[in-house]
Amino acid sequence: MKNKAINKPKLHLTGKRNWINDPNGLIYYKEKYHMFYQHFPYAPQWGTMHWGHAISDDMVNWTYEPIALFPTKLYDRNGCFSGSAIEVNGDLYLYYTSVKYLDTPEDNITVPKDDVFEASQAMIISKDGFNFDNFNDKSLIIPAIEDKDLGHYTHTRDPKVWEYKDNYYIILGTKVKKDDNEKYTGKLLYYKSKDAKKWEYINSFELHGLGDMWECPDIFSVDGKYVLTLSPENYYTDGINPTNNAVFGIVDFEEETCNTKFKKDDFRVVDLGLDYYAPQSFIDKEGRRVQIGWIRMNKPFENHTWLGMMSLPRVVEVKNGQIITNVHPNISSLFTKEVDIDHIDLKNSICIKATLKNNSKINIGGYEISFENNTITGDRAKVCNQENVALKSSTKVLEDNCYIEVYIDYGVVEVYINNGQYVMSHIVNPLESKLEASNLSDFKVYTIN
Ligand code: FRU
Repeated sequence: MKNKAINKPKLHLTGKRNWINDPNGLIYYKEKYHMFYQHFPYAPQWGTMHWGHAISDDMVNWTYEPIALFPTKLYDRNGCFSGSAIEVNGDLYLYYTSVKYLDTPEDNITVPKDDVFEASQAMIISKDGFNFDNFNDKSLIIPAIEDKDLGHYTHTRDPKVWEYKDNYYIILGTKVKKDDNEKYTGKLLYYKSKDAKKWEYINSFELHGLGDMWECPDIFSVDGKYVLTLSPENYYTDGINPTNNAVFGIVDFEEETCNTKFKKDDFRVVDLGLDYYAPQSFIDKEGRRVQIGWIRMNKPFENHTWLGMMSLPRVVEVKNGQIITNVHPNISSLFTKEVDIDHIDLKNSICIKATLKNNSKINIGGYEISFENNTITGDRAKVCNQENVALKSSTKVLEDNCYIEVYIDYGVVEVYINNGQYVMSHIVNPLESKLEASNLSDFKVYTIN
């Protein structure tokens, strides 16, 4: 396996070193999976954004490619923010938010001063998915928004593009407010194009009270329903949870006109662990709808130079009116070698499969999963060096017996509950000591063969 260094997760992509955040431009293109990602290549902190790039045959083994996008134009001189990809007549079209800071602090020119910048939308065309001419093949497609009633000059971003009936569509996230005293309202903007190069604004939707600025919107149909994923800022303001969280829900959507309708109560967090943010979806080789999110970190592990990772790929389905996100079969099928609980090395990737009943407990080198009063709790209090994060998360009340699959991969635990009814992912310090389990009716541990 490539990306196999022992001091990194094996199945969760990180940057080679330094900062990464959102997955961008996910696509299966010319027989390869391409994952681009927000990347500050020079330090383990957020700054002038580039698009890192990795490719894979199977979403298991990733190979790093050179940085794909970097600032070259006046409109993107301070960064290439998140965006997406489509294939058009054999070419790869990448769309992103181009960022121009109006000013910077004197001592750090990699960030904007007072969070003020100009955000426009741009694209670049590549013939093969490997060569990106940042000097000659970029173009500005949607200029910064000046009309306050339409959207925000700074906070309009993250173009997700798709094709429908010979037309192309873009969904963007923004925020608006009617008067200065009011809180911001999250808003979606839709654009349409015949050739995927010239775009016109066609529609919008806004809803007060679901966080405010809606980052990284993604809308798609699966099993006859439309699912909308948003990453709202200020979703939680309770002082305990991180403020920004990815949510999703089933919405009424008319694809040709982009007429959208939903209520706040139709939405729930995508991942109960609250480390998962800015997910993006795409169609895999076999036609499944797959979602990958950024698993946020705010501090590198001790003696490490990389910060932030991607989640395992998850298959999104709708069953009985509920959104289900289960681990991708390319990942689950790797874990075929059963191992004895007393002979487990937590430095290797492992998968635990268990059925929980009341008072079941699993202790994975200090990360504790319990099932009490029909509620699953994941508790990382003893194994977490991250700052200002929730240490515990719980499900709602569940059925009597719960089947879980737990993927442990050097510094991250993903718990899939009832085949994807819920997922809870937590960043933990790299786990080392032993595995203990009590009061389980069924418990097996697997490693990669
Ligand atoms: C989400 C986000 C996006 C933006 C990018 C910048 O994490 O804030 O909205 O495009 O990250 O790195």
